[in-house]
Amino acid sequence: MIAFRTGRKIPASAELHAVGVCSGGDAERPDELDWEVLSGRGFEAKPGQVEIVSGPDRPIAVVGLGPADKITIAVIRRAAASLARSAKRAKRIAVSVLDAVPDSIDRSDALGALAEGMTLGAYTYGDFKSEHKPNKLENVHVIGPGGRAVSEALEQGRRVGEAVCFARDLVNEPGGSLTPTRFAEIAEEMAEREGLEISVLDLDAIREAEMGGLLGVNRGSDQPPRFVEVSYAPDAEAECRGSVALVGKGLTFDSGGLSIKTGTGMMTMKCDMSGGAAVLGVMSAIAAVAPPVKVTGYVPMTDNMLGGDATRPGDVLTIANGKTVEVLNTDAEGRLVLADALSVACRAEPDAIVDLATLTGACMVALGPKMAGLMGNNEGWIDQLADAAERTGERVWRLPLPDDYKAQLDSSVADMKNIGGAHGGALTAGLFLSNFVEEGIPWAHLDIAGPAFTDSEEGETAKGGTGFGVRMLLDALVNFEPPAVASEDD
Ligand code: BES
Ligand code: ZN
Ligand code: ZN
Repeated sequence: MIAFRTGRKIPASAELHAVGVCSGGDAERPDELDWEVLSGRGFEAKPGQVEIVSGPDRPIAVVGLGPADKITIAVIRRAAASLARSAKRAKRIAVSVLDAVPDSIDRSDALGALAEGMTLGAYTYGDFKSEHKPNKLENVHVIGPGGRAVSEALEQGRRVGEAVCFARDLVNEPGGSLTPTRFAEIAEEMAEREGLEISVLDLDAIREAEMGGLLGVNRGSDQPPRFVEVSYAPDAEAECRGSVALVGKGLTFDSGGLSIKTGTGMMTMKCDMSGGAAVLGVMSAIAAVAPPVKVTGYVPMTDNMLGGDATRPGDVLTIANGKTVEVLNTDAEGRLVLADALSVACRAEPDAIVDLATLTGACMVALGPKMAGLMGNNEGWIDQLADAAERTGERVWRLPLPDDYKAQLDSSVADMKNIGGAHGGALTAGLFLSNFVEEGIPWAHLDIAGPAFTDSEEGETAKGGTGFGVRMLLDALVNFEPPAVASEDD
């Protein structure tokens, strides 16, 4: 964990001093920098470019910010992440990066992005390495005026960054290690630490609750399932604008079941609980961020295996809301566990629901690896989420839920089947989920199959789990307004 402090002078113990530099002819350039050396090394002050040069008292990390008039919060976050990566051998550093940021950018936002970006850039996952070399950064001394607003902005940024790292750790832990039992235990520890209410249903309780989707997916596994419900409420005297349900797919491993995946296809399938990890990530920072809204997270947890009594293609499952589903492909399992979770979430009649799921390869085909598909039944709620994504630098793209495609899910033996036709798989998956959302409850679905996991290190993301969704959801909760619901006669 990195501690952020402020101060007017560089402390003697700082091993490195980071300064921000803009590109362009008229950009201000600190005198102490040797520009010949810098340009000789190809430094052009591009956003996120970092070069370490010698300085009078200690080495200087020169951090590129790009053209001054193009600096955004995303640029600062990214530059901060690159700085944390480049300074990985230093324990204490002093940072004057924001001196080069124009006044048009809100100081608190900039400080938040700095702390968030550095926390994200310093992230490494080494639980299974015998010689792990974690980032050593412990203390960041931000040079400039202090005060409550400044420390609060830094602390919020750090907390959001830590929440993303918490989600990443969960995603990066292999499926054989992060079993549903362990996943739920980690959720319990987090809830206790953060003072949140939590309930964890075990196999018997899940049977009692008649969650046929979760039970059906779990049937081929030796690992028992869990169903986690974790809640936050604002302080009694604080503003409360309503309630939001967060639902996350928690497949600790997806082999495909009897409709088995290929070897390559399942290599990254420990990431299939990324939606659930994002929900727990949000909950891990929610008391610190303190949004003006009640929030309940629902995470169904199981793996999808092919034991001797695994669900067979053709089997019919009864979801918690009583609807029946013919399972024609056991690899379309995420929607089955989400069907139960959405049904349960609706019972509390929240003002809005959003689910996150690594749901379809089709969404990756449509949008590539960096953006999530966003769909739902309420434009106002979808707008709020899209705006939050824009503000936090997470990328989403709207997809439709065409009513007439629903017929693709017709089954001759049950209320519906769990797969649609050959094309538009992200949309039919979304339409399937819509069957489990009560009429009149604003609902949005984020298919995060693309951005949940990456094999490249870029900007603020490291290889592996990205923690996608945590930042945009925290922002959406802070800015939440109950979405208008069209009445039937509108
Ligand atoms: N977990 C997968 C989706 C996925 C694929 C996530 C790639 C991340 C990366 C999901 O359970 C799945 O297998 N979906 C099927 C649905 C199909 C059988 C209708 C798919 O996309 O092929
Ligand atoms: Zn699957
Ligand atoms: Zn899956």
